[in-house]
Amino acid sequence: MGHDTASIPSPRPLRSHRPSGGLSGRFAVAGDKSISHRALMFGALAVGRTEITGLLEGEDVLRTAAAMRALGATVERLGEGHWIVAGRGVGGLVEPADVLDMGNSGTAARLICGLLAGHPIFAVLTGDASLRSRPMKRVMEPLAAFGARFTGRAGGRLPLAVEGAAEPMPLDYTLPMASAQVKSAVLLAGLCARGTTRVVEPHATRDHTENMLRHFGASVRVMVEGEGRVIELDGQPELTAAPIVVPGDPSSAAFPLVAALLVPGSELTVENVGLNPLRTGLFTTLREMGAHLSIGGERIEGGEPVGDITVRAGALRAVDVPPSRVPSMVDEFPVLAAAAACAAGVSRFRGLGELRVKESDRVAATAALLEANGATVSIEGDDLFVHGVGGPPAGGGMVVTHMDHRIAMSALVLGLATPQPVAVDDASFIDTSFPGFAALINRAAGEEAVRDEAPR
Ligand code: S3P
Repeated sequence: MGHDTASIPSPRPLRSHRPSGGLSGRFAVAGDKSISHRALMFGALAVGRTEITGLLEGEDVLRTAAAMRALGATVERLGEGHWIVAGRGVGGLVEPADVLDMGNSGTAARLICGLLAGHPIFAVLTGDASLRSRPMKRVMEPLAAFGARFTGRAGGRLPLAVEGAAEPMPLDYTLPMASAQVKSAVLLAGLCARGTTRVVEPHATRDHTENMLRHFGASVRVMVEGEGRVIELDGQPELTAAPIVVPGDPSSAAFPLVAALLVPGSELTVENVGLNPLRTGLFTTLREMGAHLSIGGERIEGGEPVGDITVRAGALRAVDVPPSRVPSMVDEFPVLAAAAACAAGVSRFRGLGELRVKESDRVAATAALLEANGATVSIEGDDLFVHGVGGPPAGGGMVVTHMDHRIAMSALVLGLATPQPVAVDDASFIDTSFPGFAALINRAAGEEAVRDEAPR
């Protein structure tokens, strides 16, 4: 597949092999991607200087930083993960002089559509081949109801042009799918509307937008009613700059934690992991599989719960994940599937429809990842079945990552457990969310367990 973004160069094949001993040590993982995008965006809408520490400096978030600059905010990097955003106030963004390229990031593209919809400016958004294949209608439709006008490619794909509304009307919207990105796009547009925007989500999704809006001084009410979770936001607030401390990303922590569960003799801690209850479905699920997983040092930092997670390798049993849990672990199924392939019994993951519109079709890509390495899987509708045999499958496969960072990392985690090494065709996209992934695994292994794949 071609690589067509300026900053992601050539494909980078990698492979992993079973280390001679267990994984051990205490580590921090990259900052939370969802919170990092929002910190930059809300900083751009706030009055004053927002200081961010622990910002994820992955490709996706750097795209958002560049877009906020293009929309008139001052965005400065002071040091590693330490950034300052001087905002323009709600309604104060300016027309960008060029196309906004969101790279691989669906979150950046969809949330920025929300920002643009409430400003009377014209902008064009594009992305890489993966992002240009992903559905944008899910935001274009509700945002059009605010008065914004969108023109895109067939099927609502990027590139698309936005003309934001001069006088956005508040909206009352029920989410047709469990998507924090769509919810957040609507709330961001609602910031610029005169009056109260109301969003109903039948299934609760991550609430970082609501939390951060409050942190910046907006009036946000959340009620749980018969129809689901109801969020009300009073429009045109004055957002005031406020410091943001970004916790470690639980979706990134998932990779070294699952690796340590699968590599015999491991005991490993990931420190300072975000434990927002709308993000922790994987940890619940791993415990149901019999994982030795404990959480210590629980505390609140920057308005989000965080803690240190320790795991110890051991036998896992199959698990049945209900559809209601999917939103709280929507990004974690590929790596959970790697664990299920090593567990005893048939695991069932139900209601994975939303995984089909991620960076790749993750239902198909996860099944292919496992099959290439000797595991048996089946798909029925939106359910994925993984047939574990109580130990790792053979490995030895070459996994096609489809420009998807989480498919790449999941394959490499599996290869730490399988008798034969596992290779991936392109690991470059890991840098979208978890720069330093391979280095962390290699430090934990005390050897180069993840390394460049020799040409075949
Ligand atoms: C995200 C929400 C999720 C998730 C994505 C980040 C966010 O997408 O998959 O990685 O930051 O809001 P959906 O809410 O669209 O499922």
